[in-house]
Amino acid sequence: MAIKWHESLAVGVAEIDEQHQELFRRLNQLLEACNQGKGKESVRELVTFLQEYVVLHFAAEEKLQRLSGFPEYALHRAKHAEFMRAAGQLKFTLEEQGPTLSFIIAVNKVVVDWLVQHISKMDKDLGRFLAAEGQGK
Ligand SMILES: [Fe+2]
Ligand SMILES: [Fe+2]
Repeated sequence: MAIKWHESLAVGVAEIDEQHQELFRRLNQLLEACNQGKGKESVRELVTFLQEYVVLHFAAEEKLQRLSGFPEYALHRAKHAEFMRAAGQLKFTLEEQGPTLSFIIAVNKVVVDWLVQHISKMDKDLGRFLAAEGQGK
């Protein structure tokens, strides 16, 4: 099952929207590798790749929030940290059982669903705030 970026997920800041699209691309690579029955090694590489990209992405968003004086910075940052912990757990699952069906289900729940919800609500709130402040794009 592929995750698709859609215009309705646009935050309105080019850098952020591009990063979200890249995240979705990498996530699809990961899900595809699992579905194709690729081994633990290749799946682990893709998970690490994705984790590193998420770190960069969260840092970029948080920097924008600090520079603009975004009032929900602390909460937003805490949600990012929560996600990183949950994503870290996925690595344990992968090490323990390999890219099994339950691993794929966990990736869908912990990463795919979370990302779509987080972008739809919190990242878009940031986009609206920046637009109102004249700092979008
Ligand atoms: Fe984001
Ligand atoms: Fe975010």
